[in-house]
Amino acid sequence: MNKPAVAAAFGAAAASYDAAAEVQEEIRKRLLARLDGLSVAPDALLDLGGGTGLARKALLERYPASHYINADLSEEMLRFAQTMDAASDLVCTDAEFLPFSGSSVDLVFSASTFQWLNDLEAALLECKRVLRPQGLLLFSTFGPDTLKELRSSFAVVDPYPRVNPFLARQEVSDLLEKSGLSQARVESEVIQIEYASPRQLLRSLKETGATNQLGERSRGLLTPRRLQAVVSEYEAYKTSEGRYIASYEVIYAFAWQQAAEG
Ligand SMILES: C[S@@+](CC[C@H](N)C(=O)[O-])C[C@H]1O[C@@H](n2cnc3c(N)ncnc32)[C@H](O)[C@@H]1O
Repeated sequence: MNKPAVAAAFGAAAASYDAAAEVQEEIRKRLLARLDGLSVAPDALLDLGGGTGLARKALLERYPASHYINADLSEEMLRFAQTMDAASDLVCTDAEFLPFSGSSVDLVFSASTFQWLNDLEAALLECKRVLRPQGLLLFSTFGPDTLKELRSSFAVVDPYPRVNPFLARQEVSDLLEKSGLSQARVESEVIQIEYASPRQLLRSLKETGATNQLGERSRGLLTPRRLQAVVSEYEAYKTSEGRYIASYEVIYAFAWQQAAEG
């Protein structure tokens, strides 16, 4: 993943993100609902990859006494978050290198962000380092079946990966285990969204900053002719109502920091 390019793509999408992020909104809701069954009373909570700050309100409604910190790679996303709420504590950083002291937060919440990392293991170790004893890490990311229809439609156009690769649920589970966090639980489900057209799907990816930022991506432009070929291939995923299906394999995970010794 080319990080400056990832930050630039999200930066360019900051103003359009909230309206276009239909899937991310649904996932965020489902991730927040998972807090119902988890006992945590955070003084400090970190929204990792918090973007425009869409989880802030719901998190502070749950934990009104908490200090909310939004840490994101994209300065523009954070600037946009600031226009929505000037009181937020905003930190521009990479989830793989957190600028926080050890044992300084009680909850790390991260929705639809970890798929953008190069090194999930490093980020999980950082989460473990910053979590206080009995603190909670709760996150969602995407699994390999995400956008499988788009991946196979692009496969006819060129041999380069046009859709970002995703870690499998078992790989996420193994990395969580390795991080030293305890009582990890990893689940997944497939959410299918219908779009009016393949072009609308591509537009929504662009407007949420979710464009392909792979280092080895094709230098060849997606010419109108190539794009038309992709759109034609996508006809295979048209429903009887004339809508176009896109699958998102969503992985939800949580794990705990151990209690302090003694
Ligand atoms: C799809 S958005 C999710 C935003 C928000 N969490 C939500 O649920 O709507 C992904 C966010 O992750 C941020 N991001 C991408 N790579 C990151 C990294 N390495 N470290 C921190 N944030 C990152 C992006 O800038 C973007 O704001």
